[in-house]
Amino acid sequence: MGTKRGISVFLSATLLLVGLSTLAGPAMSAAESQAKEKALFEKKCSICHALSRPLGEQKSRAEWTKTVAQMRKNGCPINDAEAKEIVDYLAKVRGPKKK
Ligand code: HEC
Repeated sequence: MGTKRGISVFLSATLLLVGLSTLAGPAMSAAESQAKEKALFEKKCSICHALSRPLGEQKSRAEWTKTVAQMRKNGCPINDAEAKEIVDYLAKVRGPKKK
């Protein structure tokens, strides 16, 4: 009985999963998307002041959302999607202090 069949079921399931994740899955891994957010942050948030300005702070996501909105008022040239990516990045790497 079924070793061969077992293998072929396993193989088709694997192929199906690979196929599905190629079709549906995000093209970028978490590390890749973080690298992209980091690059965007470094490009846009260094226009007027050093990156140490934001990197010297630790804030919650809500506070970063406010800061980034304030920077857009200051004149930071980013759209809503870019603002969100930068907030995501800062909330990850400069989240609130652990007590
Ligand atoms: C158009 C110029 C400009 C750009 C671009 C800019 N900033 Fe600023 N930033 C300022 C100015 C002016 C101040 C000081 C006045 C203030 O706080 O609004 C400041 C202050 C700050 C501060 C300290 C004050 C606070 O609210 O904590 C942080 C943090 C900061 N910026 C983060 C960022 C981040 C993150 C980005 C990228 C999304 C960015 N900045 C892009 C002009 C800019």
